[in-house]
Amino acid sequence: MNDIAWYQEFFGEDYLRIYTPFLSEEKTLREVDGISKLLHLPAGSSILDLCCGHGRHTIPLAQRGYQMTGLDLNESFLQRARTDALAQGVQVEWVHSDMRYIPFEHTFDAVINIFTSFGYLENEEENLHVLQQVHKALKPGGLFLLESVYQNKLVRSFSPYGIIRYDDGLLVLEERSFDLLSSRNNVHITMFTPDGQRIEHEQSVRLYTLSEVVGMFATVGLRLQAYYGGLDGSPLSMDSRLVVVGRKQE
Ligand SMILES: C[S@@+](CC[C@H](N)C(=O)[O-])C[C@H]1O[C@@H](n2cnc3c(N)ncnc32)[C@H](O)[C@@H]1O
Repeated sequence: MNDIAWYQEFFGEDYLRIYTPFLSEEKTLREVDGISKLLHLPAGSSILDLCCGHGRHTIPLAQRGYQMTGLDLNESFLQRARTDALAQGVQVEWVHSDMRYIPFEHTFDAVINIFTSFGYLENEEENLHVLQQVHKALKPGGLFLLESVYQNKLVRSFSPYGIIRYDDGLLVLEERSFDLLSSRNNVHITMFTPDGQRIEHEQSVRLYTLSEVVGMFATVGLRLQAYYGGLDGSPLSMDSRLVVVGRKQE
């Protein structure tokens, strides 16, 4: 039995190696534009980037005049974020914590959670607990913006295998299974590096339908404000991502 959760083990250099080629600065800045438009908050508003990673959205949002806090479990991502923020000359509060423990109360005008950073925890109660923490951290009337893979889209286009060859010769094989009882997408990742190493990782993410998210929001006191198929504000469809905005009741 492995005591280390997959999300403690996977996020690090290998995650960056697999995903960075798909996350150009241009794409990230388009996402940042989308986040600002969807939240529609005045400059100076306080925003928590929950599971901020290395701050790819946190830092550009701070550059746009928001008062940013970034929270993540991975200290090496936060270290990189601190260095980048310093280089960009922006002030961000970085918090090293598990998303289950958000050490703020009635503090933020908005909380954002981007790039499928929700649904990682061991069971439904733990994932719901994160939303309770989000609710606690928001000011009355504050917004929560969640952006993720959409369960309907994954199921509709489900493919049990995927293989990608990177320019440097890295091969990444994904063996996927969607558990119908838990609605978790379980992925076994094998990296074949150009120097002949074989590295294995696991991912297990609870993916949600819109109605499930709306139900969880209601349970913790977040009212549905809007939903979209992407951060660009496009409509939700069976082929889109899932973006849901909830508002903490006044
Ligand atoms: C898919 S990445 C997305 C990062 C960032 N939002 C982005 O778009 O680049 C998920 C992030 O969640 C963080 N994470 C994983 N489990 C966590 C937990 N239990 N509490 C807080 N952060 C966690 C990881 O360290 C990683 O930075």
